[in-house]
Amino acid sequence: MNATETLSVIILAAGKGTRMKSNKPKVLQTLANKPLLAHVLDTCGTMAVNKTIVVYGFGGEQVQSAMANYDISWVEQTEQLGTGHAVKVTLDDLPEDGKSLILYGDVPLVSSETLSKLEEANDQGISMLTLTVDNPFGLGRIKRDAEGKVLAIVEQKDADEEEKLIKEINSGIYCVDNALLHKYLPNLSNDNAQQEYYLTDIVKMAVADDIDIKAIEPKYDFEIEGVNDRQQLAILERKWQAKLVNDLQVAGVQFADPSRVDIRANANGDSEITVGQDVFVDANVIFEGNCVIGNNVQIDAGSVIKHSQIGDNTHIKVNCLIDNAVVGRNAAIGPFAHLRPETVLADDTKVGNFVETKKANIGKGSKVNHLSYIGDAKIGKEVNIGAGTITCNYDGVNKSLTQIDDNAFIGSNSSLVAPVKIGKMATVGAGSVITKACPDNKLSLTRAKQATINSWKRPVKK
Ligand code: UD1
Ligand code: CA
Repeated sequence: MNATETLSVIILAAGKGTRMKSNKPKVLQTLANKPLLAHVLDTCGTMAVNKTIVVYGFGGEQVQSAMANYDISWVEQTEQLGTGHAVKVTLDDLPEDGKSLILYGDVPLVSSETLSKLEEANDQGISMLTLTVDNPFGLGRIKRDAEGKVLAIVEQKDADEEEKLIKEINSGIYCVDNALLHKYLPNLSNDNAQQEYYLTDIVKMAVADDIDIKAIEPKYDFEIEGVNDRQQLAILERKWQAKLVNDLQVAGVQFADPSRVDIRANANGDSEITVGQDVFVDANVIFEGNCVIGNNVQIDAGSVIKHSQIGDNTHIKVNCLIDNAVVGRNAAIGPFAHLRPETVLADDTKVGNFVETKKANIGKGSKVNHLSYIGDAKIGKEVNIGAGTITCNYDGVNKSLTQIDDNAFIGSNSSLVAPVKIGKMATVGAGSVITKACPDNKLSLTRAKQATINSWKRPVKK
């Protein structure tokens, strides 16, 4: 088969998924925070696929609107008459030549490496993914002759006692020449134990045509695992997480406990993590979206890092939420800090206990150590923001900017009512409500004068 031949993908997704007990069609259930079907589509998206056909049944509108970003030819299968019937309904949309990968919307983790190998293995018309397992019950068995040549696939319910002993099972994933699909599928019969049109019957049809069928195994067993209920979904999630964490260990990350870390997609389906050397990740950390983590970064227990960049030597202390933020080198964040979207922290910054930032640009060496809210702010270098400082960025209608220039010092418990500017080397006295610009190099404060009432006596019990 030459590489210029067109490759189509047929994804069967007509099953209802009754056992999920869900309002959502099964293929929209999520694994690593991404719909099962999106996993399959993203994998195909990394291959040279010319056409993607999805066979849908239940909840078609819901599935189509959830997958609106993909280029898909949708084909409805109104009645679930079997896997062979499901592929047959695509024939009007399937090119006459080239080949097709046949995949399942509820088998989310098959890899592009395995599918490429499967495609290469198809040198005579059909190749398939099989696996030898300890407990083959319920699955189709691969029947071979004495020389090991594939003869047929026999379903559990149609198998005789001898066939039931076969441990090589059918994954249901194949690469088939379109010409053969066009030739065989119209001739399928449902004369079998389940009265279904079996896709698996094309194997014996091809054998009758003297086609040598190739079977290969996936790299990981979980690649061919399907999801039918919540338990299987959770088991597959754990296997996938273990694989992602293993990949990061191979890349040099130290995990305190590899079983207590999760790596998930964000709403855009992104979930790529890039790491430097000697990163340490403590227990119960969650990564979401694309994250770039520098060298020698330490992430303490309970932190959630969403779609953010963390520079070299930075320490994220316990229980921080870092969301769409950029953190420079040698920074210290938390414990209990919340960096919200569009927070950009330069090198050597400190954002400490119970501090929230949003749309805040904080310059090199500046510190916001305790109990502050910094939103819609542009802060220069070496600024010190005292405990309990609030940028009052919202008047109930509009958001306004607070600008604080290099080396300014904001006394504790100050309210900076935006729009407002604090000059270079300016000092704001503790407890001030600042509504006007504070000039460079000067102390500005708003504060009631302290008084001592000499005549006052503490009340005593009568
Ligand atoms: C099928 C294979 C079996 C294999 C097993 C692996 C056949 C006849 N058997 O079993 O050899 O070991 O997969 O899991 O192919 N679907 C439709 N429309 C239909 C029927 C099924 O879209 O009319 C979809 C389902 O949504 C599901 C997939 O096809 O995603 C497989 O269907 P399922 O009933 O789970 O597989 P079996 O037929 O039991
Ligand atoms: Ca079935």
